[in-house]
Amino acid sequence: MSIVIKIAIDGPAAAGKSTIAKMTAEKLGYTYIDTGAMYRALAHKALSRNIDTTNGEELKNLLQETEIVLLPSTAGQAVIVDGIDVSEEIRSQQVTAHVSAVAIHQGVRELMVEKQRQLAEGTGVVMDGRDIGTAVLPTAELKIFMTASVEERASRRHIENDKRGITTSLDDLKAEISERDRADSEREVSPLRQATDAVLIDTTAMSIEEVANQISELAEKRMNL
Ligand code: C5P
Repeated sequence: MSIVIKIAIDGPAAAGKSTIAKMTAEKLGYTYIDTGAMYRALAHKALSRNIDTTNGEELKNLLQETEIVLLPSTAGQAVIVDGIDVSEEIRSQQVTAHVSAVAIHQGVRELMVEKQRQLAEGTGVVMDGRDIGTAVLPTAELKIFMTASVEERASRRHIENDKRGITTSLDDLKAEISERDRADSEREVSPLRQATDAVLIDTTAMSIEEVANQISELAEKRMNL
């Protein structure tokens, strides 16, 4: 007999969490939740309304009146905000540059965590982000902390951007990723941390398949406890 589990995947920017989380969820028939997309959705809406990203109260109020729906799609996860598909827009360089500032605020995080827990309720789930194992799903049966060298992460993002027709310099990507890691690790509320009971996977020299297989094996073990 196997049990339905919750899987938390955390780690720094562009470590491949979303790709692996989606693959794992598909394999297990679980729900995949990209929590970074939710913060990006809020950042996008705030920027489109010229809301100051240092104003936590205003951002919290904005989130309160925002409907964020995540739908499965072939490209990963479609992100629908107030009925409009913003999946492409939330990946823009502008949103990427401002999202960590939006994610700093306690009020914003409390609401996000509440929404994320609701999405995970009563179902098998693979959720990726920065604080899933430490704050959102602290009792998750399997916690992964996925990392890779900043050079490798920038290089992967570079290839990904090329495929999407976006031109970026490798040095700019490295700087952007390092800055986001710094902001996410140094913030006061739920900073990026490896949970004490998380399994560390350094994917620098691993293929996507190798990482996915390792996580599937770990998941199988937890499911058959
Ligand atoms: O995962 P992704 O890189 O799309 O996340 C974008 C940003 O959202 C992160 O850099 C971080 O600032 C924020 N985030 C967060 N907590 C999460 C997921 C993302 O603070 N659980």
